[in-house]
Amino acid sequence: MNLVLFGPPGAGKGTQSSLLIERKGFNHISTGDLLREAIKAQSDLGMAAKKIMDQGQLVPDDVVIGLVKEKLASKPEASFIFDGFPRTEAQAKALDALLEDLGRPLNKAIFLEVDHKKLTDRLTGRRVCQKCGATFHIHASPPQKEGVCDVCGGELIQRPDDKEEVISKRLEAYMNSTAPLKDFYASQGKLKTVEGEGEVEEVFSRLSQEVAST
Ligand code: AP5
Repeated sequence: MNLVLFGPPGAGKGTQSSLLIERKGFNHISTGDLLREAIKAQSDLGMAAKKIMDQGQLVPDDVVIGLVKEKLASKPEASFIFDGFPRTEAQAKALDALLEDLGRPLNKAIFLEVDHKKLTDRLTGRRVCQKCGATFHIHASPPQKEGVCDVCGGELIQRPDDKEEVISKRLEAYMNSTAPLKDFYASQGKLKTVEGEGEVEEVFSRLSQEVAST
């Protein structure tokens, strides 16, 4: 089964993907994570992407499509959740073509719906572990010890693109390029919407029901 999980920045895509991986055995492709890995490795691609990401803009389609293609080729038989990809219609069409080549078409595109007024709070309060990538929130899901990851003891940091001035740019990019994908997937009969507000476990329960009915 292949699922796209999409929605605005801070909707909870990463949080819910982690639970689907842990409890339902999905594999995960997050283009945001792949780009951050490239930045950490200080590759040319990573350095070019960093400039764009720090401004809240989208990385060019051909770059992210290339990353997804590589990752899919490494596990062609697996069930995937696509998190943060696709973000443009060109990416959505490329994903359809890649999955068609594998003979494993996309089953559903699940839109995680959250009121935009809540997104800035979620993003400015997010802290991520530099070492293992675990995600926390200073109010909603704080670590036991401030600044320290509960999972591996690594240092918790704020993502450079989680500053308020960059968040507004990310939301603008989302409205212009990614929100229109709702129409794209609706026209394929694959769009499902899940309410993304409430406790993390409540959202997961709604999401699991949608996944189970696939
Ligand atoms: P990416 O890393 O994909 O960021 P994003 O889509 O903006 O999504 P986020 O990771 O910010 O949010 P999320 O929905 O995963 O929320 P999370 O679960 O962490 O992309 C970053 C950048 O990379 C882009 O801006 C772009 O430049 C580039 N990029 C990536 N993919 C690209 C592509 N395909 N094309 C072009 N460019 C691309 O939750 C957020 C916070 O809320 C956390 O603190 C969490 O603990 C908390 N939270 C989660 N759920 C709840 C809840 N139910 N209640 C309360 N708090 C909650």
